[in-house]
Amino acid sequence: MSKSRDKQSDAAGADPGADVYHQHFSVAFDYPVHFTRKVFDPENDLLVRMVNRLGEKRVHRAAVYVDSGLHEAQGDLVGKIKEYFHRHPNELELAGAPQVVLGGEAAKNGWQVVEEVMWTLGNLHLDRQSYVIAVGGGAMLDMMGFATSLVHRGLRLIRVPTTVLGQNDAGVGVKNGMDEHGMKNFVGTFAPPFAVLNDFEFLTGILLAGQRSKGPAKEIRVVSSRNNHGKLHIAFRCFSA
Ligand SMILES: NC(=O)c1ccc[n+]([C@@H]2O[C@H](COP(=O)([O-])OP(=O)(O)OC[C@H]3O[C@@H](n4cnc5c(N)ncnc54)[C@H](O)[C@@H]3O)[C@@H](O)[C@H]2O)c1
Repeated sequence: MSKSRDKQSDAAGADPGADVYHQHFSVAFDYPVHFTRKVFDPENDLLVRMVNRLGEKRVHRAAVYVDSGLHEAQGDLVGKIKEYFHRHPNELELAGAPQVVLGGEAAKNGWQVVEEVMWTLGNLHLDRQSYVIAVGGGAMLDMMGFATSLVHRGLRLIRVPTTVLGQNDAGVGVKNGMDEHGMKNFVGTFAPPFAVLNDFEFLTGILLAGQRSKGPAKEIRVVSSRNNHGKLHIAFRCFSA
């Protein structure tokens, strides 16, 4: 942040002799968006590398949240996450048992779920160097991003998007929000994640819109490119079985 002190001029219409401090700050954010498979397989060290990516040598505390719709579809996921932490004791510690949290648009409808998440994070005594790992669809990620951006003015959030829209849009950007006052995304913040881990395996079983009559996708191809402004574009093409 830089400050400069100017005398305002009469031409600017200000009180002559008034002191003005012009404050300016800019903050650069960068975060990796990874593509992987079986992110919670203990042999996959991507998550471990991510929590260590700033070179801090310690065991990292993390709270993990799983989208309820995903939990219904993959009942063994919470067990896999616990096992992952169990197998990486020198790098990772679960701050509490992984929480299943409401998924879908209802998750971001009003303050209720946001508050529940915030109070849980407070009770777990997470600090600004702790991690929140959110595994779920775009709506749950929006809600989790909003809640974590408010606690201590922002915790480190690792997003693991589990829907197509989550992996190509909601999960990779810097916006979050919730629906309130009768308006979609009426309340929200800009809060870049610490990292994004796109795991293709989460998409495998989803019946994609427009494909319901044809059954689940057999193959999903992903093409990424950057436009002239450096914005990342990710395109998904689905092929039926
Ligand atoms: N922040 C942003 O930049 C941004 C960008 C685009 C969209 N969004 C938001 O994303 C939301 C839509 O996200 P969405 O399309 O991912 O839908 P969604 O999050 O509503 O998920 C749809 C359903 O799928 C379930 N689910 C999630 N993963 C699953 C899986 N792997 N298997 C089975 N079920 C699963 C969810 O529980 C939910 O019931 C909207 O609220 C939209 O506003 C945000």
